[in-house]
Amino acid sequence: MGWFPCSGTSKKKRKKKQSLDPVQSSSESIRSNPLFKTKEVIKNGGSDNLAAQTFTFRELAAATKNFRGDCLLGEGGFGRVYKGRLESSNQIVAIKQLDRNGLQGNREFLVEVLMLGLLHHPNLVNLIGYCADGDQRLLVYEYMPLGSLDDHLHDPSPGKKQLTWNTRMKIAAGAAKGLEYLHDKASPPVIYRDLKCSNILLGESYHPKLSDFGLAKLGPVGDNTHVSTRVMGTYGYCAPEYAMTGQLTLKSDVYSFGVVLLEIITGRKAIDNSKTGVEQNLVAWARPLFKDRRKFSQIADPGLQGQYPARGLYQALAVAAMCVQEQPNMRPVIADVVTALSYLASQKYDPESQPVQNSQWSPSTPPRSKRDNGKRSSGGGGSGSGSGSGSEKNHTKRYF
Ligand SMILES: Nc1ncnc2c1ncn2[C@@H]1O[C@H](COP(=O)(O)OP(=O)(O)OP(=O)(O)O)[C@@H](O)[C@H]1O
Ligand SMILES: [Mg+2]
Repeated sequence: MGWFPCSGTSKKKRKKKQSLDPVQSSSESIRSNPLFKTKEVIKNGGSDNLAAQTFTFRELAAATKNFRGDCLLGEGGFGRVYKGRLESSNQIVAIKQLDRNGLQGNREFLVEVLMLGLLHHPNLVNLIGYCADGDQRLLVYEYMPLGSLDDHLHDPSPGKKQLTWNTRMKIAAGAAKGLEYLHDKASPPVIYRDLKCSNILLGESYHPKLSDFGLAKLGPVGDNTHVSTRVMGTYGYCAPEYAMTGQLTLKSDVYSFGVVLLEIITGRKAIDNSKTGVEQNLVAWARPLFKDRRKFSQIADPGLQGQYPARGLYQALAVAAMCVQEQPNMRPVIADVVTALSYLASQKYDPESQPVQNSQWSPSTPPRSKRDNGKRSSGGGGSGSGSGSGSEKNHTKRYF
């Protein structure tokens, strides 16, 4: 059907050794699976431009000035991520280099290339190409200039601007749309399995895109309600029934989305080892508070400095509470989450004309009166937001 000419139709036809390309041979099994189509592809007769280019290691080394330290954007379980400029097109890209000593390996590299070759949506990151030269494995993505949602919510670097309520709702709605595409537009559906703040990347104007599809799984078909897999994911985001039984459903992703939404609302981390007791686990901490409307202002991120709509907070919390329910069948489908969050994102909050809520101010973020609006101080990392002290990152611990 030719949906995934990942190695054969590089614009420059830069490589001719396709028969040695591990991606091409692995792509055959997914490509030839008649079940795996996205409805978009079906709609336009399969003529999407799905080409992922192949790159030589030399090209990517040149793009990153030999993987120079000052090009480093970050590091995850897969390896290091560098900012680079492709000489051929002058395009700025993010290049992820597989750490050969890392936990995640070739399999995730292949799944990432194959999935992103087939799946295209404004809220999914675009894979420009890959390199499978010898034992080198690199992925080349569009560069997302504002980094990850995790950086914005949890990076306590001084001078960092806090995300406003409106931006938070925009990010939540966009991320939900990306997930909706995976669940409802791909056939069979795709279970993402790695939804978390560090995998939501932000483009201009905080446009969110989901990234990292190395753990994605084709979902159940026919009468099946789940697929059985080895449990993988990130501690704190994993649905309890999946962690316990390995039975993966679309509702596992909805749970993870609920955790992300809670992080967006509270500014707290899913797991925060710098805290003690119930506060270490965001869902465990938030659950009792869901039941008492008077406590809602305690849930809101102090970094918001009270600048959120009370009703919007209540509604967003209601969505998050539904998503993180213990019983998977009680959680909403992602399409309903999209509807709710799109509505919330359309209700713009204006601190000039709407009340600023009483909130728990963190010591480093004194309450801002309406008058000093516009001269927004960064509020630092908002130590009271729970994001401050524990600087270690909750990287994907793939194996439980
Ligand atoms: N396309 C991109 N554009 C800009 N920055 C990126 C891009 N991809 C990744 N990054 C940066 O690199 C960092 C590391 O990303 P990576 O996906 O490797 O790890 P992670 O998601 O933080 O952890 P994990 O291994 O658990 O998935 C991100 O937090 C982000 O700041
Ligand atoms: Mg990631």
